[in-house]
Amino acid sequence: MIPEDILKNKNRVHNLDELGLKLYSHISENPGKRIAFWGHTYQTKKLIIDFEKMLGNKFIPTYVIDNFKHHENCFLDRIPVISFDEAEANKSRFDLIVIMVDSPSIYTILEQISSSSLSDKNAWMVHRDTNPLNEIEFSSICKEAQTSLVKEGVVWYTTEQNWYCCYQYLKQVASLEGDVAEFGVFQGGSAYFMASVMKHLKIDNKKKLFLYDSFSGLSEKDSMDYFEEGSFSSVRSSEQLKKLLNKFNQIEVFEGNFSDTLPISGLKKLALAHIDCDQYSPTKYLCEYLYEKMVPGGIMMFQDYPLGIAYGERIAVDSFFKNKPENILFGYDGAAFVIKR
Ligand SMILES: C[S@@+](CC[C@H](N)C(=O)[O-])C[C@H]1O[C@@H](n2cnc3c(N)ncnc32)[C@H](O)[C@@H]1O
Repeated sequence: MIPEDILKNKNRVHNLDELGLKLYSHISENPGKRIAFWGHTYQTKKLIIDFEKMLGNKFIPTYVIDNFKHHENCFLDRIPVISFDEAEANKSRFDLIVIMVDSPSIYTILEQISSSSLSDKNAWMVHRDTNPLNEIEFSSICKEAQTSLVKEGVVWYTTEQNWYCCYQYLKQVASLEGDVAEFGVFQGGSAYFMASVMKHLKIDNKKKLFLYDSFSGLSEKDSMDYFEEGSFSSVRSSEQLKKLLNKFNQIEVFEGNFSDTLPISGLKKLALAHIDCDQYSPTKYLCEYLYEKMVPGGIMMFQDYPLGIAYGERIAVDSFFKNKPENILFGYDGAAFVIKR
């Protein structure tokens, strides 16, 4: 029998993205904490490699625990793979257990931990195979926003997966200094959703939501861009957008080319930037302008980074971050994001 408090454990993480963000903050605040990973999988490998790149010596993976015997005694040629019994015997050598396994195994592992000497360890768990879009809090905000937008006749181009990332990243930056901004608003789909989440998290009185768009569609394209000039020109005006969002606090709408409106919009510090403008030149401009405005731990999201046919945004992001200490990471929506150091 698994104790109720373990099943409802506050350390239950909903998906790999959330785990990554949570672990990153935790290690940044507690460098040197020793971590044992439970689960000998590709995802564990990727997470460890990413974190070693990002955090260097602050990140100390000590063991990989696995209930099954593996042909490898060492993970990534350097981290010992140990059994549950060995983990108990060596429990003084790690401070935190991160469990990354599929749903059926997680309950077995929780039972094992709760009836062992490892029960006093801090353990975070993620079901690798859950669908985060069904998470109750997210799905109710999402459905409510979709219903209101449809009622108002608003069309939007962002996916539920992208909204899910906006939701997670907003939670992640909630306690940081700085405002939130979107670059490429169109008729206000993702903006409405972000405003709803900010209201839900009660950060709408502390953070402004700055919204920037020409409302006349994309500008002239570069050779690596796909969409023609004028694509995504909205049939709805900035006035209609303001009306749509007037039930939310602290919304600021700026109409015009980013390079004209951004410098005069009063934006000082940014905790989250949702960048969705599809093309090379505006993305390059935004990377250059916003980088210094991002607070440490703040997140820049690049919505169109994985667009197969439109390489502009990806090329702009890759070349800007080539010589920067930050890594380009990938979210649940498949798009890129960067956490400012
Ligand atoms: C794909 S749409 C944004 C979709 C929106 N986030 C949604 O949820 O539906 C891209 C938007 O970027 C805007 N845009 C692109 N380049 C711009 C620039 N240089 N200045 C201002 N707006 C720009 C376009 O007007 C267009 O509305």
